[in-house]
Amino acid sequence: MSARVTATSPASKKNARFPNHIAIIMDGNGRWAKKRGLPRLEGHRAGVENLRSVIAYFNKLKLKYLTLYGFSTENWKRPEEEITGLLNLLEEEIDKETLELHKNGIKIRHLGRLDELSPSLQQATNKALELTKNNTGMTLSLAFNYGGRAEILNAVRKVVADGIRPEEINEELFTGYLYTAALPEVDLVIRTAGELRLSNFLIWQTAYSEYYFTKVLWPDFDEKEIDKALLSYSQRQRRFGGL
Ligand code: IPE
Ligand code: IPE
Ligand code: MG
Repeated sequence: MSARVTATSPASKKNARFPNHIAIIMDGNGRWAKKRGLPRLEGHRAGVENLRSVIAYFNKLKLKYLTLYGFSTENWKRPEEEITGLLNLLEEEIDKETLELHKNGIKIRHLGRLDELSPSLQQATNKALELTKNNTGMTLSLAFNYGGRAEILNAVRKVVADGIRPEEINEELFTGYLYTAALPEVDLVIRTAGELRLSNFLIWQTAYSEYYFTKVLWPDFDEKEIDKALLSYSQRQRRFGGL
């Protein structure tokens, strides 16, 4: 008999413990730069560069959904020079990398308010979404100008505008009004750089997620660190309120 993977074989058990949707709070670019005596923007450059290998690794591991937090609605409080620099880096990266992501069957989504961003960033993003919309590989959701509270308020406004009656509102319906409509539950949230908070990231969607915090700064978060996060996840017991 061939060594087929059956429902009870170790390989399939291992796969069952592999997350379907991972969301990452990519923090620590500033500290990475500071440690090296470099301007903060150099940290963001290194952070944006790290995206490529992280995305490629998750794609190789056949992750279905990867969601990355790159710029929050609160990040507008930063000095204008840093904001512009960071958003420009993001735009350049989208422009440069979309074709390669497309070739790999990756579907790109955006989470957040695109209309408050520069016309050129909107254009680059829309082009990436359009080009990759029919891809069936990993779904890569980029959260920039994203805020969890803003997302919920936006959903509430749309529910009201659609004239939905109070008794029709349930979790499933509401979920469909979020930026993340059609994305599955987040299984694992990873935050780099040691901070133990969500910072307004996917506050509805992470109600039952597992969390993994590491002190490693985002530009240093590599395959080895990803493996550690996945190993930690594989050892968790998820109960969802049951036994
Ligand atoms: C990148 O890290 C995350 C963004 C908000 C763009 P930071 O810029 O927050 O880096 P630290 O926290 O200052 O080290
Ligand atoms: C969270 O990081 C936002 C992103 C990673 C995009 P911050 O560095 O902005 O979070 P706080 O301010 O430390 O909570
Ligand atoms: Mg930070």
